Amino acid sequence: MLSIGLDVGTAFVKCISGSARVIFPSLYAYRTLERWESGRGIVVSVGEYALKMLEYPSAVVIRPVIEGRPVHHQGFLALVKEAVHRVCSSRRMVDAIRGDYDLSDARIVVGLPYSAGSDRTALTSLIHKALKPRSSLVVPQAAGTLVSANKRSATVMSIGQGTTEIVAFEDMKPVSGVSLMQASDYITSELGEFSYLDPSIVNEHMGEVERRAKMLADILSNRLASFMSSLNPTQECSKLLLVSGGGLLIPGVKGSLAERVKMQVEFAEDPVMANAIGLHILAGL
Ligand SMILES: Nc1ncnc2c1ncn2[C@@H]1O[C@H](COP(=O)(O)OP(=O)(O)OP(=O)(O)O)[C@@H](O)[C@H]1O
Ligand SMILES: [Mg+2]
Repeated sequence: MLSIGLDVGTAFVKCISGSARVIFPSLYAYRTLERWESGRGIVVSVGEYALKMLEYPSAVVIRPVIEGRPVHHQGFLALVKEAVHRVCSSRRMVDAIRGDYDLSDARIVVGLPYSAGSDRTALTSLIHKALKPRSSLVVPQAAGTLVSANKRSATVMSIGQGTTEIVAFEDMKPVSGVSLMQASDYITSELGEFSYLDPSIVNEHMGEVERRAKMLADILSNRLASFMSSLNPTQECSKLLLVSGGGLLIPGVKGSLAERVKMQVEFAEDPVMANAIGLHILAGL
C-alpha cells in the first residue's frame, strides 16, 4: 500500500510518500498567451512556477488556501494533484493527458484546521473524485505533529502562516481545540504580499521582525493559558505542549514563546514538515 500524508497550508504545500518529501508554495496562477508568443490559450501553473508568473502583468495569481481553509477549489485541486505528482512521478499513469496516477492502492491522509471540521465531508469527496485513492481521511492537521512526536496525549500548538492551531489530544482523540487568526502572517504581512516565501526578506527586517515576534508570543501564550484553563488538569493533554509550524523558524518566535509558556514544552525538530510527517505515518497505519 502507498501511504501519502498531505498538508496543504496557507503558505506551503507539504507532502510525504515513502522516501519522497516535497514542499512548494501554495500558489496557483494562470495567464492567457500573448499575441507574440507561440501557441494560443491559457497557461496554468502552481507552486514556484506560479510565483514566477508574477513577472507577467496580466497573470492571475491565486492563493487557494486562506487561513488554512480551501477557498478556491480549482486551485486547491491543482495543488493536491501537483503534490501527488511530485511524490509519485515514478508510478504508472492511468491518464497521461490529465496527469492522473494509479492510486488504487493508496491511502491519503489530509490535515485541516480544527475549526474547519465542517469542510471535512466536502473535502474528502473532492479528493476522492480527483485522485481516486483506495481510501482517504481528513483529520485535524495538528494530529500530524502529535504523531510525528510519537505521542498519544498532549496539547499541540502549530503556528502556520494563516492560523495557529491549539488542539488537545487525549489518547489520539482531539478533545478540544481552537484555530487562532494570529499566526506567522502577523509578522510577515507588513513586509510585502509574498514576503513569507522568502526568508531573506525576513532577515533584512530583523529588528521589526523580532519586535513583532515578541508580540505574537505574548498573544499566543495568553490564548494558550486560557485554553489550558478549560482542560481537566488531571488529563495527560494538560501536562505537555508540542509546538510546530513554520512560524517557529521566524527569528525570535521560539525564544519568546519558551520564555512565556508555563508548562512543559517540546519543539518539533522539523517545524514546517511536522504535520505532514505525522499525517504520512497515520496513512500507513
Ligand atoms: N526557513 C525559514 N526561515 C524563516 N521562516 C520560515 C522558514 N520556513 C518557513 N518559515 C515561515 O513559516 C511560515 C509558514 O509556515 P507553515 O508552512 O507551517 O504554514 P502553513 O502550513 O502553510 O500555514 P497554515 O498552517 O496556517 O495553513 C511562513 O510565514 C514562513 O515565513
Ligand atoms: Mg500548516
